[in-house]
Amino acid sequence: MGTDGKVIGLVASPNRTGRTDQLVAAALNGAARAGAPTELIQMADYVVAACKDCLPWVCKDNLKCTYEDEAFEYLSRQILTCGALVLGTPVYWWDTSGLAKYLILKMFRIYALSAPLQGLPAFGIAIAGGTGNGLVSGLRPVYHFFQMMQMRAIEPLPATRFNFEAAVERADKLGEKTAAMADQRLPFAGLEERLLWYDALPYLSLSRAAERRLLAGLAIQALPSPENTANALGLARADALSAAGKSLDSLIEVTRVYEAGVKAFEEKQ
Ligand SMILES: Cc1cc2nc3c(=O)[nH]c(=O)nc-3n(C[C@H](O)[C@H](O)[C@H](O)COP(=O)(O)O)c2cc1C
Repeated sequence: MGTDGKVIGLVASPNRTGRTDQLVAAALNGAARAGAPTELIQMADYVVAACKDCLPWVCKDNLKCTYEDEAFEYLSRQILTCGALVLGTPVYWWDTSGLAKYLILKMFRIYALSAPLQGLPAFGIAIAGGTGNGLVSGLRPVYHFFQMMQMRAIEPLPATRFNFEAAVERADKLGEKTAAMADQRLPFAGLEERLLWYDALPYLSLSRAAERRLLAGLAIQALPSPENTANALGLARADALSAAGKSLDSLIEVTRVYEAGVKAFEEKQ
């Protein structure tokens, strides 16, 4: 299938007017500014049925699901022919949404072996709009999808309600960057190059403790200067404790800062 150069944005949220939609729309705004045609697709309108992992495994050769699935047909056609892919997911239980995962699993089953998406530019967004937990773990299945399908993904965007405005701006910039790559697919020379490319992307390799440290930093960002400074000192203390090998004490301090940040953030709302 040829590519139409379009940057498509998938909103993997059942909520058509939520934060996922806003972030994906911002990415497409940036892409449009870079001159690319764009299309935003609500996955709530195209709910993929669960892959049955049926045997014999004929779909990898037929390149078609044995069971009728119009939603999958539509979404996979859009992905196969696009110039670049933006995929935004809400974070549910520190994880990617089911809407995204059902699509991903069926894409793997049918296309992972023939790899028709080699070199496709891709950009993933996760919005942890509640506690903020899972801002990175919610991104991992999305980037695992990009990696397994051999796409050439740019850095991900972990977003929370605490840094939402900045995240919208960042989505715009990264959408522009994705669009600048959409005129051609650049496949990796081999597995090794691909693994190192993905290892070099930020956030995805963070430990759970480091993810929580990142979240605490975001939770205090929107606070006015005196509160921000006091909490930033708390984070510096947490970093010193961690460097001294006191991981548990460090994480407890991170949680203290996080909770202070959330409380102050909510008082401002
Ligand atoms: C079932 C469920 C689980 C959720 N789990 C988390 C979570 O683990 N971390 C978080 O920060 N927010 C969580 N949230 C909040 C959503 O991430 C937040 O409402 C987000 O804005 C949803 O995206 P939307 O605005 O596109 O609907 C959860 C919401 C639901 C409905």
